[in-house]
Amino acid sequence: MSFPIVRNRRLRGSQAIRNLVRETSVSVNDLIYPLFVTHGSNVKEEIPSMPGVYHYSIDRLEEELAEVVALGIQAILLFGVPETKDAKGSSAYDPNGIVQQATRKIKQLHPNLLVVADTCLCQFTDHGHCGVVHVDEHRNCADIVNDESLELLVKTAVSQAEAGADIIAPSNMMDGFVHAIRQGLDEAGLENVPIMSYSVKYASSFYGPFRDAAHSAPQFGDRKTYQMDPANVREAIREAEADVVEGADMLMVKPALAYMDVIRVIKENFDLPLVAYNVSAEYSMVKAAAQNGWINEQSIVMETMIGFKRAGADLIITYFAKDVARWLKG
Ligand code: PBG
Repeated sequence: MSFPIVRNRRLRGSQAIRNLVRETSVSVNDLIYPLFVTHGSNVKEEIPSMPGVYHYSIDRLEEELAEVVALGIQAILLFGVPETKDAKGSSAYDPNGIVQQATRKIKQLHPNLLVVADTCLCQFTDHGHCGVVHVDEHRNCADIVNDESLELLVKTAVSQAEAGADIIAPSNMMDGFVHAIRQGLDEAGLENVPIMSYSVKYASSFYGPFRDAAHSAPQFGDRKTYQMDPANVREAIREAEADVVEGADMLMVKPALAYMDVIRVIKENFDLPLVAYNVSAEYSMVKAAAQNGWINEQSIVMETMIGFKRAGADLIITYFAKDVARWLKG
């Protein structure tokens, strides 16, 4: 028996029929917009490697937030650039730290806008690592001290939630961080605050522009002892599984573009909401090409967003969030 020719083109003849049979969609509800808050006053400074993304001081946040809310974006991911740094990142868990102050201000201005707090030490430590570092002068090397780092990360998460953060997003990749933070939040009476875990975070060159933006490049060494090897995918399942067992409410894969297969694998193995982080260099590359007139920014970005959704992401953290929201409005 011979097969008839399958006529796929029948379903592509008009925009209306394409809309009817479309499998995936992007909505403003899928978007989380990262926001960098810096110390000082009257600061609105463009990040050179990320055109269109700014550092704001707390007193200048209002105009940016008004735009985000008017576009219908429901969540921001908050990063802080503190005035002072030290070996233990103490401004990360200072109740009057930059993130805590900004959170209070944002919740006061827009109680319904969700504040997702990035919980890490790297912006707050003078060495730029995500945890406490022990330098062994005899062996001439430095190690991250996992459990001591956990204590400080728990303090950070609790102080962020106490300041009003709606979701805690730990990005530090220490072992056991979800369990420790869950326990810390619960003991502080914050059992209703969910954890969006950066479960599957690769040691990636795609974070370069962010490290300029957050002034968080490691001063020595790299993050390969705690972030994942880009060559591994089975390890991603192990990482995500640990986070699920430890009490994560949402999982994340980061970066996104070069890791679509990882997004798919995590989606197929776990039923928690899955977040894709469209990171800084993924943004900067598109911006640079668009500024040169080499690509059509809007269609490239929208195709990328649909790609994340098709791969299995439920939510997308992206520096393009405001543009996407605008384009979706048509
Ligand atoms: C902090 C953190 C980083 C990013 C988000 N949180 C940097 C890193 O791990 O080096 C990167 C985000 C981006 O590149 O957009 N640990």
